[in-house]
Amino acid sequence: MTESQRLLFAVALTVIYVIWVAILLWRHYRPKLSKTAIDQSTFLIAYASQSGNARALAEQYANDKAGEYPVLLTRLSDLSLSELTHIKRALFVVSTYGHGEPPDNGRSFYRSLQNPKNASLSLQNLTFDVVALGDSHYPHFCAFGEQLYQLLEKHGATAGAALTRLDHAKGETGKSAVFFATGTSNNFILDNRTQLNKTSETPLFELSFFSDRMSWEAGDILDILPANSELEVTRWLHNHNISPDLEFDFENQAWTAKRWLTYRQLNSPQTDTSPVASLTALPLNATRSYTIASIPEEKQLKLIVRQHKLDNGKLGLGSGWLTHYVTVAEQVKGKIKPNPACHIPALTSPLLLIGAGSGLAGIRAQLSKFTQPALAIKPSRIWLLYGERYPDKDDVLEQTLDTPIKSSTIRVDKVFSRCPNQPQYVQDKLVQSAKDVKALVDAGGQIYVCGSYEGMGEGVHGALLAILGEEKVQFLIDTQRYHRDIY
Ligand SMILES: Cc1cc2nc3c(=O)[nH]c(=O)nc-3n(C[C@H](O)[C@H](O)[C@H](O)COP(=O)(O)OP(=O)(O)OC[C@H]3O[C@@H](n4cnc5c(N)ncnc54)[C@H](O)[C@@H]3O)c2cc1C
Ligand SMILES: Cc1cc2nc3c(=O)[nH]c(=O)nc-3n(C[C@H](O)[C@H](O)[C@H](O)COP(=O)(O)O)c2cc1C
Repeated sequence: MTESQRLLFAVALTVIYVIWVAILLWRHYRPKLSKTAIDQSTFLIAYASQSGNARALAEQYANDKAGEYPVLLTRLSDLSLSELTHIKRALFVVSTYGHGEPPDNGRSFYRSLQNPKNASLSLQNLTFDVVALGDSHYPHFCAFGEQLYQLLEKHGATAGAALTRLDHAKGETGKSAVFFATGTSNNFILDNRTQLNKTSETPLFELSFFSDRMSWEAGDILDILPANSELEVTRWLHNHNISPDLEFDFENQAWTAKRWLTYRQLNSPQTDTSPVASLTALPLNATRSYTIASIPEEKQLKLIVRQHKLDNGKLGLGSGWLTHYVTVAEQVKGKIKPNPACHIPALTSPLLLIGAGSGLAGIRAQLSKFTQPALAIKPSRIWLLYGERYPDKDDVLEQTLDTPIKSSTIRVDKVFSRCPNQPQYVQDKLVQSAKDVKALVDAGGQIYVCGSYEGMGEGVHGALLAILGEEKVQFLIDTQRYHRDIY
């Protein structure tokens, strides 16, 4: 490169960076919704969603309502209180995250609604409904939906109906039926499965599925409908004294008892006495989510799955099905779920990818995306912070990534929580590298975190709060520079 080409390149990079910062500031401070879009007849549908369920449901409601009203569909974080005062009819579709908290794209709205400065806000014009998504395995079931409902009432809005709670544990988020729709897009054929680490305590597997004609983006999720093992189905039939070959019709489809039970919740309480009634009373298994670990250009949809063992010694339903029971060339019922919160925009500013354990899935997908030779705009630097337990048995980073990570633009930090010499978690490494984290954020950088919520996700969030302060972290969330896929 000649000196003048280098200068031109530097100028171009600076211009792109200045434009990006301007866009971020505009996005953060602009009036969020177009006032012209709002009039007395507008039906507002606002969602807050961490991993896409509430968003998908809100989109479905928006489609249904579009024939009747001018519908305005928006993320809750894109709605301001003053805009809400102009709305007469609204539906809020919100999930609960963390320990009874709002999802990231609901936090700023929730804070404004609670802020004592807004105590005099009147929403008397507004009639609203809230559909709350949650999971009854969590102690604070649908807590954010409940809080939002109460706060809207406190500000004078009128509830159209009682709060609707949808329980993911009971398959109530409306997705299971889709797995039985005709069409191949919901069937994923297993091509290969390998155990990545060298331990039987916490085995971690990589699975590859054929992915012809499928499209997704790095950050997206595969929801699977787990099947029961043949052993569990046989045991249930034996305990209920029902023949596996018992035939019956359900919603115009012919079934045998054995086939019917493949996707049904076998631990549901039983009340009915007739064999067919006991069978048809069983709800479908609840779906399980897995971060997609590859990009479509790789021609395979990959997952990285931790085999989960329950206290009774059995395998977890979803991870057990994927890592043990399903065999190569067999079908997994699944659906790709877009997760826009983790679609990291391609910018020249630096990118910090943090992941531990099965969170390697998200790291792998993002790294594949950002190191594609054909990608025109790339982060100037990528910093990869990866955590596992034992350095000798669990260090699966290099073998999992197709991308060479020995590069001048990629920094790799590996930490191991059970390393005899230097036990460390990713959050410890972050605190230790506080200066670098600040510099990355000051340079307009983005942060992506993938892995379990407890321990890693919470720890990383705490470390970022300690390093950057609450206001900055909230700013990063609001301006979509802090992307969290934690579960
Ligand atoms: C957005 C997202 C992305 C994810 N990505 C990944 C990934 O890339 N890789 C990965 O390995 N995992 C990922 N997970 C986690 C994954 O979805 C599963 O939670 C995990 O595999 C364990 O599920 P399981 O079915 O094997 O275990 P389960 O059978 O669900 O058991 C897990 C625990 O759930 C509780 N539980 C389950 N059923 C009941 C019940 N009926 N009553 C009471 N308690 C119950 C129990 O406490 C049990 O210990 C992700 C999760 C989310 C939300
Ligand atoms: C890390 C994590 C924390 C969660 N915390 C709660 C909770 O406190 N209360 C609850 O009812 N549901 C909780 N859930 C369940 C989600 O609300 C539920 O899966 C919902 O369908 C997710 O919708 P979303 O994809 O729109 O975020 C949690 C889920 C995850 C992954």
